[in-house]
Amino acid sequence: MAKTKRMMEENIKLIDVIVELVDARAPISTKNPYLDQLWKRRPRVIAMNKTDLADPSVTALFKQQYEQQGYAVVLLDAVHRKGIAQISKACQELMQKKREASGKTSNAVRVNRPVRMMITGIPNVGKSTLVNQLSGRGNAAKTGDRPGVTKGKQWISLPDGVQLLDTPGILWPKFEDPKVGLRIAFLGSVSQDVVDTYTLARQLLDEIKGRYGQLLCSRYGLDEAMLSEGGDYLLEAIGRKRGHLKGGGIVDVERTAVMVLDEFRGGKIGRITLDQIDESEGESQNE
Ligand code: G4P
Repeated sequence: MAKTKRMMEENIKLIDVIVELVDARAPISTKNPYLDQLWKRRPRVIAMNKTDLADPSVTALFKQQYEQQGYAVVLLDAVHRKGIAQISKACQELMQKKREASGKTSNAVRVNRPVRMMITGIPNVGKSTLVNQLSGRGNAAKTGDRPGVTKGKQWISLPDGVQLLDTPGILWPKFEDPKVGLRIAFLGSVSQDVVDTYTLARQLLDEIKGRYGQLLCSRYGLDEAMLSEGGDYLLEAIGRKRGHLKGGGIVDVERTAVMVLDEFRGGKIGRITLDQIDESEGESQNE
């Protein structure tokens, strides 16, 4: 962690714009407050990735909120290349605004000085996928861990006069907040040895049954009345519906828990966003 932090602090000196990748299913919980100290109010794009898995109406609200806070926002589905072209455009627009604010708007400045940017984010938000898509390498290659890839700094030229630092910056989630830790574990972004799979699945069902109860009912054939019960009851009901039984007709809740978590993470239950707009701290880039 200390090494990645040092590397991030070193790389940040080379760039003009930072693209902070967050998971659209938890756009507050997957944001890292350390970046706010490190990067302060310099040009930042918030790229909300995995929009294919998130609730579209909540994604639109978060986009609006982040824009009101002074960020440029891009909606992404990196795996399917949706929104990719918006990244360099947003970086260039931010730099243009900055140049206008400082009075340096001549073409000479623009041509001689490409905009340098890097992608940052907590593990599993899609940094490697995005870097690979932007660089035209597709999904096959993981940045930096292929034998024979030069480990030195490399810049990838993107459209609109933007250069991307090959190595993404890794940040860590705000583990101090238990709610954040839990949501990150629901997403499967970090190893979940803090909570066992059964507890995690049970807590996930408790968390989503209010806002997304209908999706649970249609996926697992539950009655709406069951939604007033706790997550442990729902997990057992789901296991029974799916025929996950051990000897003596007892539901195999462990196996059911693994299935529910996998199906949630893969978007099979439906498009679900964990963070809610009224939970955000409402900090502003403009203050
Ligand atoms: P990281 O570098 O930030 O750690 O994340 P990485 O790109 O490795 O992506 C983590 C997982 O998220 C990968 O799945 C990747 O395919 C998936 N992913 C990235 N962007 C999107 C997106 O916009 N939508 C969806 N649905 N998934 C996305 P994986 O199962 O861990 O690996 P793989 O089986 O795809 O290789």
